[in-house]
Order: sequence, then C-alpha cells, then structure tokens
Amino acid sequence: MSRMVCSLAPGKVILLGEHFVVKGMPAIGAAVTLYARVCVSRGQGRVESRQLGLLLDLSSNTVNDKGLYRVVEELAGRFGLKRDFHATIDSEIPISSGMGSSAAVAVSTTHALLSFAGVEPDKKVVWEVSFEAEKVYHVRPSGVDNTLSTYGGVMVYERGVFNRVKTRWPDDVLIVIADSGVKRSTGSVVADVLNRYDKYSKVMSRIYDAASELVRDAIKSIETGDFARLGELMNINHGLLSSIGVSSRVLESIVWAMRDAGALGAKISGAGRGGIVIGLVETSKVPSVIEKIKSLGLAPLVVQIDDEGVRRAPDNR
Ligand code: MEV
Repeated sequence: MSRMVCSLAPGKVILLGEHFVVKGMPAIGAAVTLYARVCVSRGQGRVESRQLGLLLDLSSNTVNDKGLYRVVEELAGRFGLKRDFHATIDSEIPISSGMGSSAAVAVSTTHALLSFAGVEPDKKVVWEVSFEAEKVYHVRPSGVDNTLSTYGGVMVYERGVFNRVKTRWPDDVLIVIADSGVKRSTGSVVADVLNRYDKYSKVMSRIYDAASELVRDAIKSIETGDFARLGELMNINHGLLSSIGVSSRVLESIVWAMRDAGALGAKISGAGRGGIVIGLVETSKVPSVIEKIKSLGLAPLVVQIDDEGVRRAPDNR
C-alpha cells in the first residue's frame, strides 16, 4: 500500500468584536472543533475536493482555486515540492459563513503537503504559506482565520497583533452554531457599516469604544472562568452589532430562540445580515437549545474550543 499522510485544521468563530475590529478595536476569535481534513498520497500533481468543487490538476493546467494554487507554488519555491502528490480534501466547516473554511483548507493542505514531502511542518511556515492563500481569497485579510486554524485556542487580535487568551475552557461550556442560511457579501456589509460610521461619527465612536471595553472585560471573564459574565457580555455585544445595522429579523429570532432555551449568551458572529449566530451554552441546556433551533427549521452544530490547531490526522482508510 502506498504511503498516505493526513492533516486536519480547525475552523473558527468570532466570540466578540467583529466589525469594531475593522476600525482598530480588539476582537476575540476561537478555533472550534469543526475541521478541514486533507490526505495526500503519491499521484500526478492533483488537489481535489468533490464536496467543495475544488480542482487543481497540474498535469493539464486545470486550476479552479487560485488560493490553493498559490500554496502549491509557494511550497515548490521554498521547499522544492515535486508534482508527485494527490491531495483530497473534506471539510465539516460550513462555507461562506465566516467560519474560516478557506483558511482551514489552505492550512491543512500546506501541512499535509509538507509532511508528504518529508519536511517537518513547522507552524510558522504553515501560517506564512496559508496567509499567501488568504491574500488571494480576500482583499485585505486580517489573518485571524489562518492564525486560529494554525495555532488553535482563543485569541485576541488588534491591529494585526494576535495574543493567546490564557484559558482552560471547561468541557461543560459549549458553543452552539446556527447558520441562518442567508447569504450576504461580507465586503458590502462592512462598507455599509463604515458609511454609517461616517454619517453618525460622534455617536458611533462611543459605540466602538464600548465594544472595545466589552472585549477587555470578556478577556478577563475567559481567563477567570466566569462564563455567565461572558454570556452577558456577548448579549451586550449583540446589541451593539444591532445598533450598527447588521442584525435582521431572522438573526434576532435565532438569538432569542437560544436565549429562551437557556443559553448564557447569544449573538451574531461575523459580518451579520445573514451567516451564523452563536450561543454560549452549558451542557445541561444544549438539548433544549438544539430543539429550539430545529423548530426554526435550522440544523445546529455543537462545538468546543480546539486548543491545538493544525495537526497530523489518522489515515482512516
Ligand atoms: C467578518 O467575519 C468579520 C468582520 O469584522 C470583517 C473583518 O474583520 O474583516 C465583519
């Protein structure tokens, strides 16, 4: 049997601070236990995912994902990667919902290709190469997605600087994710928010300062294990997101379903106007939160924090 190596890398959610981060305020992101998994064996220079509709076939110059092509080019330039691989990708991370699916695919592909080539996949290198892919996918990536996917854990980021929040996140505090299924363009939501900022700059600057204060308080709550307080801060953060115009009737109904079912806190996560809502939920309340979300016709995902980031995965052939 030919050699096969597999790697997996987590997706992420933003716990607090989205949008405000665009104007230099801090935000908190967390890697979560949903993964992109890549397996590499000997082949003819091919990367594919039927599930994601991705194909790079280097022998026929077929490339429908320029980010992954960038990964392959970068690894060829830095490490002399040969075109002797066949990589297949599967992912549990919802796509186009702000959960870092493309970054997790780039991170796990980089890690797996390096391992296959016999190069120890140093995390700093994985980060650098996956950031090149992120630059292809997004105009000005903050780096939060590939940073969390590479290193895992909970991180506060501010003006391009990332710091790990010291936490032993308890096993009985989970995150429930509900994808509203409403698609929107992050770029246009961000542009609308910035326009609103310019129009009401005096009041908006106070909202942004409040958001910053909220994040600093939340870091302390996570570090001291005060998750009841963290939930309340998430609720306040949701109110601020609503005030800058990124909530909607659908998102409010999901947020309130989670709160009614006993979530410690619930909020939009990411750009808003659609995409996902997250709830901070104690284990005992998870069944009722799941039931409420299902009664809205949605399929909730229940996740924990991933502390490890990208790593080798078992080959389950
Ligand atoms: C989108 O997932 C998060 C935003 O804060 C945009 C950004 O940080 O680039 C809305």
